[in-house]
Amino acid sequence: MMVSSVIVVEWPPYCGTMSEEESLAGIELRTEIPGPKSREIVARREAAIPSGAARLTQIAVDHARGALVTDVDGNRFIDLAGGIGVLAVGHTPTAVVDALTEQAAKLIHMCAIVSSYESYVALAERLNALTPGDHPKKTVLMNSGAEAVETAMNIARAHTGRQGIVVFDGAYHGRTNLTMSMTSKFNLFKKGFGPFAPEVYRFPFPNVYRRPESMTEDQYVAWHIENLAHCFTAIVDPSHVAALVVEPVQGEAGFVPAPHAWLRRLRELCDQHGILLVADEIQSGMGRTGRMWAIEHSGVVPDLMTIAKSVAGGMPLSAVTGRAEVMDAPHPGGLGGTYSGNPLACVAALASIGIVDDDSFLAHANDLGDLMRRRLEKMKASYPDLIGDVRGVGPMLVMEIVHDAASKRPWMEAASAITAETVQNGVITIRAGLYSNCVRFLPPLDMPLELADEAFDVVEKAVAVVAAGDRG
Ligand SMILES: Cc1ncc(COP(=O)(O)O)c(C=O)c1O
Repeated sequence: MMVSSVIVVEWPPYCGTMSEEESLAGIELRTEIPGPKSREIVARREAAIPSGAARLTQIAVDHARGALVTDVDGNRFIDLAGGIGVLAVGHTPTAVVDALTEQAAKLIHMCAIVSSYESYVALAERLNALTPGDHPKKTVLMNSGAEAVETAMNIARAHTGRQGIVVFDGAYHGRTNLTMSMTSKFNLFKKGFGPFAPEVYRFPFPNVYRRPESMTEDQYVAWHIENLAHCFTAIVDPSHVAALVVEPVQGEAGFVPAPHAWLRRLRELCDQHGILLVADEIQSGMGRTGRMWAIEHSGVVPDLMTIAKSVAGGMPLSAVTGRAEVMDAPHPGGLGGTYSGNPLACVAALASIGIVDDDSFLAHANDLGDLMRRRLEKMKASYPDLIGDVRGVGPMLVMEIVHDAASKRPWMEAASAITAETVQNGVITIRAGLYSNCVRFLPPLDMPLELADEAFDVVEKAVAVVAAGDRG
């Protein structure tokens, strides 16, 4: 339907009006990448901001809408990074912008410790209803994912009176001291930052791609299930463990799905030993895998869930949602912070959840996932010695880059070369993986399929360039 120079797009319905140019156009590159204005801002960034706060691309952004990002030189990119999984509903979706605008004029900050406001309560009610399990639940709000994980650990320790926390190989839970201690990958996240928090115990995680050659997938998963009993003897006694924290699809490790039978065994062992099962859905939740929560694919119901990233449409907000009697364990005053559950973030979250919690949104996310998997599998078939694995769930997908299919030797430089090449050609992609050798895709889940096809044409060309060894 045309309204002067503004059209109302059929999909995504909730993005409301977009200019014709915005909605129909894809990549448009007007300068070399990075352009002169981007280079200038990046140079200022390098002078003013420490190099530890690293950047993955050379572009400086001016504005963004849906899956399209425009840089300060007027170049338009398709965004397959989505703010590292924060933009399930795309950039600046109308419902979120409207909610923020209205709220900003009414109340920007109050502090939930000082008094109550309805949006915090409504969001807690919504998350209590939306998360798996019919039992009574409660929710506390925080600012970042790490803060939610740390809060969940306080709650679990207060409830159980135990100290131990079990985490897994490849886990990423954040960068505060406790969550950094729970995080696995050492060099990128932990080097030079110790001492780390005590009482964190790490068990193996079943990454079927990297299983011993002699084992089938089923044998490998069965071995991991058996091995849990061994871990509870060799590493920590279950009576000492407050919480077992698992990402249903590991994020930073390179989108490694936890096998469902293994997750179900974790649930049984937690029940048997009075351990709380905590699903860290910070990256995998909010429709990212084509269902509201990744753990739903397995049928397992966790005791606590940590939620962040896409929950608030780009605003900083996180949550711990879980069994009411567990959530009530900390003493009054034990939970919270100055900005936790800020009113702007709460209304953004209510708007964002309103978009994602919709069958047509999730159906589209699954169609997008099918398209992405088809495109990636085709690339893998063309370059089997470069793309070792294509994996993930729904539209939460990576390709793992290796030196050759037989050795599976991780090839970080080639993964970096692919992401650099896509950005040069108008598509923003980023890496992931324990070995930093995966190219991961976290697009807005409502992006039009035509735009996704255009983006994956660019990814395919970048893979071809790197496979041909045309890059230094
Ligand atoms: C599974 C998981 N947990 C926790 C975090 C930490 O979240 P934040 O960066 O908001 O602290 C992340 C961030 O990537 C994550 O993917």
